[in-house]
Amino acid sequence: ATLIKSLYRETQNYINQTVTISGWVRTIRDSKTFGFIELNDGSFFKNVQIVFGDALDNFKEISKLSVSSSIIVEGILEETPNAKQPFEIKAAKIAIEGLSDPAFPLQKKKHSFEFLRTIAHLRPRSNTFSAVFRVRSIAAYAIHKFFNERGFVYVHTPIITGSDCEGAGQMFKITTLDLNDVPKDHDGKIDYAEDFFGKETNLTVSGQLSAETYALAFRNVYTFGPTFRAEKSYTARHAAEFWMIEPELAFADLEDNMEIAEDMVKFIINYVRENAPEEMEFFNKFIDNGLSERLDNVVNSDFGRVTYTEAIDILKKSKENFEYPVEWGIDLQTEHERYITEKVFKKPVFVTDYPKDIKAFYMRLNDDNRTVAAMDLLVPGVGEIIGGSQREERLQVLTGRMAEMGLNEEDYWWYLELRKYGGTRHSGFGLGFERVIMYLTGMSNIRDVIPFPRTTGSAEF
Ligand code: 4AD
Ligand code: MG
Repeated sequence: ATLIKSLYRETQNYINQTVTISGWVRTIRDSKTFGFIELNDGSFFKNVQIVFGDALDNFKEISKLSVSSSIIVEGILEETPNAKQPFEIKAAKIAIEGLSDPAFPLQKKKHSFEFLRTIAHLRPRSNTFSAVFRVRSIAAYAIHKFFNERGFVYVHTPIITGSDCEGAGQMFKITTLDLNDVPKDHDGKIDYAEDFFGKETNLTVSGQLSAETYALAFRNVYTFGPTFRAEKSYTARHAAEFWMIEPELAFADLEDNMEIAEDMVKFIINYVRENAPEEMEFFNKFIDNGLSERLDNVVNSDFGRVTYTEAIDILKKSKENFEYPVEWGIDLQTEHERYITEKVFKKPVFVTDYPKDIKAFYMRLNDDNRTVAAMDLLVPGVGEIIGGSQREERLQVLTGRMAEMGLNEEDYWWYLELRKYGGTRHSGFGLGFERVIMYLTGMSNIRDVIPFPRTTGSAEF
């Protein structure tokens, strides 16, 4: 079959030619002697219009097709210069591949995203989700392209780990269900996964610690995979399973880290806009009217830079009535982040040098002994999309920090050895993939940018 995408991109090659298209009926209307089908074949955001007439021997059957039936159409592509679509296909033959029950829930009327979440197995057949998930795929490719063009090595860091990278205790613990292993006198307290691995394990919250080990061998690496957090916060920006892109750079400080982060974000935006213009136009028109302008502004401006301490001053001096009181030492809340990026900078902004007490153990301690070389990238509309830092390469300082935070050195022996055998300055960050898709599309709920969302109270499909 010919793909609808080719028909649109290389129309000249197909004019007045016979083509065969296979796809799903998006809409159908008919009169006594002819009818129209809007067909989508999954290859492209746009549909193709099929015109069929009673010359077809199965005209009656075709007229009765319900939405989402799958068919194979053979016909001639004709230009339609005065119509909304540049061409249509005059069907000579239509074969039915699979009928659809008339109860198919995605009829022409507009459905709420909440409703569509309850049919996550069917929602990719709607315009919005067709656009979102194609953009998601293209953005993933853009990320691999960005790093590969710059010589980064892609490392697959483990999903099952024994360490808690962020030290926040938001981990899902691994257990087994192999009842054959249960000893007769089992008291219900044995953890079989613990027996299996010889230690307690959990789903990874971040691939960073493993990525660091490879950075100290390959210099520049990245990992891009699923991560898991038992986030109880029921927000539109948190999921229990999300994908993270984590580059790690040897011989790089916080400044280098921010530079690559900024280049990467701009690269993703440019690449997606170039390669999914129809989808991006759809988002701008139907999801978020300010999107195009905002993205133009992002790729054409230098990201803002502000230290945490300066940000606190800005927030304190603002006349805003924040729900959560502002004081040096607090973790910035969404309302604060949004104020900084939306009201003050009106563009993406890096906030750097956070108090050590609100950040992870591995971040490099600054000379003031109370802040660390951390950076978060905040963007209008979404808030934090990146969290990163320069890593503590000084063994003594690192073990000192771990002791302060009650972390057990033995659990991190291999991580500490990196500081023993030719440790270097190094930095990295994590980009939340769903957050960047929200940013790119204007979609406002994380549940609508990941195919099968796992959030508090929800793991259907
Ligand atoms: O700021 P975070 O916790 O940083 C880390 O995990 C570091 N180890 C990364 C690194 O330096 N290699 O998370 C990084 C990003 C956040 O900025 C956010 O975009 C995303 O991951 N994120 C989430 N996205 C969706 N749902 C959640 N529950 C998320 N938690 C973090
Ligand atoms: Mg963070």
